[in-house]
Amino acid sequence: MMAISTPSRGLILGIESSCDETAAAVVARGEQTLSSVVASQIATHAAWGGVVPELASREHLRNIAPIVHAAIQQARLAFDDLDAIAVTSGPGLAGALLVGISYAKALAFALDKPFIAVNHLEGHIHAVLLEHQQHSAQLLPMPALALVVSGGHTHLFLAEPPLDTHAEAQPAWKYKLLGRTLDDAAGEAFDKVAKLLGLGYPGGPWIDRLAPFGNPRAVTFPLTRIKSKPHLVGKTPRTKGALTSPVAALDPRFLFSFSGLKTAVLRHVEDLGLRSAAIAREEALRALDAVGQKLSLEDIRILCDQPTLDLIASFQAAVVDNLLHRAFDAAESVNAQSLLVTGGVAANSELRRRFTDEADRRGLPIAFPSLALATDNAAMIAAAAWPRLIAGQLAPLNLEADPRLVLA
Ligand code: KG4
Ligand code: ZN
Repeated sequence: MMAISTPSRGLILGIESSCDETAAAVVARGEQTLSSVVASQIATHAAWGGVVPELASREHLRNIAPIVHAAIQQARLAFDDLDAIAVTSGPGLAGALLVGISYAKALAFALDKPFIAVNHLEGHIHAVLLEHQQHSAQLLPMPALALVVSGGHTHLFLAEPPLDTHAEAQPAWKYKLLGRTLDDAAGEAFDKVAKLLGLGYPGGPWIDRLAPFGNPRAVTFPLTRIKSKPHLVGKTPRTKGALTSPVAALDPRFLFSFSGLKTAVLRHVEDLGLRSAAIAREEALRALDAVGQKLSLEDIRILCDQPTLDLIASFQAAVVDNLLHRAFDAAESVNAQSLLVTGGVAANSELRRRFTDEADRRGLPIAFPSLALATDNAAMIAAAAWPRLIAGQLAPLNLEADPRLVLA
């Protein structure tokens, strides 16, 4: 670890390209967002019903230079004003990560600026901290339990800040993994169920918007319980975005599993004969899309029968139940002083409502990112890089992409 003098303006350019968003942002001292630009690839991947890694890399390559320039311009800065360049080094898609890393390295080398590697999950945690500092006079009490829940991840961490965030040359944040999914990430389950029901990609936002039209108690899905895990010892769970950390050391109470729920939805669709209506719905939506019509909630709702709406509401309630029980149990077991919920699925309105109610009931401070910072962005990467910069945790210019990077 190298001690460096803290730059007064603390201007960090963050670059993010781990999945299907090319993003760049400038954040000052980890607390003031000067610009945040995101190019989404949703339109490219929608036709395939999910992220196609090869297409993602090509899109990043096309977008990276204009997006970084836009972030610098919007912040009204010149490249020379920057104090450091930060980039997501993993977890994520290897080819996608490499585009951001190569660009960031070249920039750091050419400008002769400190170069910082940030874990994508650490970024999601700092999205909440960044905004909380901007909008609230009170600091969140620490340590915090962080639930990172997105299309690639469903992880529980205990997050502890450095003792004095403004001291120089001291350790940065500490993270302890407490739980994670054994199979699908929650966002992946949302996307797969939406696809099965003939809804658009990504499916999470559509399920969120359609669920209020259904009865969440119409279909009962049992709460998945993982009692013991002898068969898992030494195994590494597989999720869409990342292959990370073995689960042997984790408490089974804090492990998630969404593949059983997905299968239960499939069985329900077959039992009730909902599949042909789903195929017709998918075709109708594709036809509207082909004539360039921007789909409204009403366009989609009128294509859904009541049993489908009930299934959507019940599925969403089951996912939120799963997340809620484990997150609050974990927070209690480690005596966390606050709860942070972040990642794309943290945009879900039912999740926000139920987590907020439960946190209020327990008197536990809770924070979510705004909708813009819930999904992938680069402001969170620049914010997470600031404590690393003041702790002198710089990355070498031969840094490689690590698709399985573990946060610890
Ligand atoms: O954090 P993110 O942008 O990318 C990853 O790191 O994966 O998360 C994207 C995921 C997708 O699975 C998407 O369906 C889900 O977040 N998502 C939602 C909502 N908005 C996005 N899931 C449920 N409700 C939402 N409102
Ligand atoms: Zn993410």
